[in-house]
Amino acid sequence: HWSAEEKQLIASIWSKVNVEECGAEALARLLIVYPWTQRFFASFGNLSSPTAILGNPKVRAHGRKVLTSFGEAVKNLDNIKATYSKLSELHCEKLHVDPENFRLLGDILIIVLASHFARDFTPACQFAWQKLVNVVAHALARKYH
Ligand code: HEM
Repeated sequence: HWSAEEKQLIASIWSKVNVEECGAEALARLLIVYPWTQRFFASFGNLSSPTAILGNPKVRAHGRKVLTSFGEAVKNLDNIKATYSKLSELHCEKLHVDPENFRLLGDILIIVLASHFARDFTPACQFAWQKLVNVVAHALARKYH
């Protein structure tokens, strides 16, 4: 269900993404903008202010891990459900993350990409990426369905 243009738009942005930087920023923004998500990361230490969250090495490392995992979706656009089957189990059955939070993180990632790539993140690009984050959120929530 991906057009050739959508695939190209996703790949062209992804090839320019700094996974470490954007991953860290996306997870930090999630924890700052939606503070209830901090509950899942109680073991990460100091999350007491935006500055603390942005400078927290565990947040940075985990953000990188999450965005690296997002890269698997980019590489397997036609097979996202299977790609995230194990991660869905982890997030749903072990961590009990409310699936609404997958959507929030996806939307945050869009904002991070828009702020990093500015005019290159065209409306057509945004459309393709929004579709991608929705499919990823749906795949991660699969074990709840
Ligand atoms: C762990 C990916 C969203 C909470 C992980 C791991 C990956 C991952 C790859 C590591 C799994 C492992 O160690 O085997 C993703 C992706 C997401 C996403 C691709 C969405 C696009 C979320 C959200 C939350 C969350 C929204 C909570 C608000 C956690 C927690 C862990 C985890 C608590 C375990 C952290 C630890 O203690 O090491 N996730 N995640 N994830 N995720 Fe997610």
